[in-house]
Amino acid sequence: MREYLEIEGGFPLSGEIRISGAKNAVLPALAATVLAPGRYRFLNWPRLLDLYTMLELLSRLGARVETRGEILEVDTTSLEGVEAPYELVRRMRASILVLGPLTARFGRARVALPGGCPIGKRPVDFHTRGLKLLGAEITLDHGYILARAPRGLTGTEIVFDFPSVTATENLLMAGVLARGETIIQNAAREPEVVFLGEMLQAMGGRIEGLGTDQIRIQGVPELHPPEEPLRIIPDRIETGTYLMLPGLVGGEIVLRGTEPRFLKTPILRLREAGLEIESEGDTLYARPGKGLKPLKIATAPYPGFPTDLQAQIIALLTQARGVSFVTETLFEDRFHHVSELWRMGADIEQDKRTAIVKGPVRLQGTEVEAHDLRASASLVLAALAAEGVSRIYGLEHLDRGYERIEEKLASIGARIVRKRYETAEPF
Ligand code: UD1
Repeated sequence: MREYLEIEGGFPLSGEIRISGAKNAVLPALAATVLAPGRYRFLNWPRLLDLYTMLELLSRLGARVETRGEILEVDTTSLEGVEAPYELVRRMRASILVLGPLTARFGRARVALPGGCPIGKRPVDFHTRGLKLLGAEITLDHGYILARAPRGLTGTEIVFDFPSVTATENLLMAGVLARGETIIQNAAREPEVVFLGEMLQAMGGRIEGLGTDQIRIQGVPELHPPEEPLRIIPDRIETGTYLMLPGLVGGEIVLRGTEPRFLKTPILRLREAGLEIESEGDTLYARPGKGLKPLKIATAPYPGFPTDLQAQIIALLTQARGVSFVTETLFEDRFHHVSELWRMGADIEQDKRTAIVKGPVRLQGTEVEAHDLRASASLVLAALAAEGVSRIYGLEHLDRGYERIEEKLASIGARIVRKRYETAEPF
């Protein structure tokens, strides 16, 4: 049985949405529970497919997982497995996040090599090269990365060619248990990396330079679970997605429980496009302003414009008066939403890594298929703006990263329902 979303578009949406905990923060935080035996407690954890995949992986390694009210508890006291099977890695590439902690704690890990992915090749060479520099022996074993460090890891200097998010996280987790000092140069500065670093500090890790491009770690012989429950930081991508709604459909929205300082660039760019956005504490207020203007945007690592909002802003810019240019610099093939947006009437040309969006067009509801997580969010936005009914297939992508999206959107007035269909063929 598969599902699709049916959306009747063309209505303004007004009201409040509560932002969930960040997918990209909870995944590395869960992987970090491998580093020391004991009980870990999390608050504000999002109910997402990716989170359940990570919990399944930890369970297979021997952890016990329990939810008690708002608390997610992971007990790694008897965790002793070292293998991440292909079956889970192919569902979620972020499973690679257990490679560093398993190698650091047990001196051994066997993690399926992630294959290609709908948005590009996405190699993991920074992860494996970094572990090699820390003294691990890395081999390819029948489609699996086999890491061995029987005498433990030794601190060293690692320089990334590019500030990869999950590679920084993997090596941060490996470095905390390595002997001596590890320095990560050209490190990722994403808030989710800082969050992981702070969790490791609460576990006894000695880390400096979080949020900068040079992270220094003094290895310690062992760690312990944090004493207090950890509150997962708000999802800045979910926030950015909903923040675009007033520009697309009109109405005034209030986003609560978020962290506006994680979204400085998206907020600046959306204001430049004409949206009126105010922030106060953990709340953002957005309304349409006087007409939508085109933008010229290139995605970049944090604090630049996030690649994870590229698909959504293209949907928004179909409604701007004039020509917008959106360049994707991180992933070579992250434009699958463009051909689906065409089907809804969008006027978008693709020139290599740049989408040239001409607007405004009147989008028309139709059936579309989502091919990756953020592309599916862009189709939801477009469908909310479109005239008539749309059906969005491929929800297994959307559900990886957006918690209760139809409930949240329905609560601000969207006509949106999740439906099931029996056949494997969507149409
Ligand atoms: C993370 C996020 C994802 C986001 C991306 C970029 C998680 C779980 N996922 O993915 O939502 O879209 O950051 O902000 O946090 N690269 C290599 N070799 C490597 C690793 C990366 O060449 O070993 C390249 C990638 O192909 C890509 C670039 O580096 O071109 C950035 O990717 P990276 O930051 O690693 O993305 P992820 O950590 O996989």
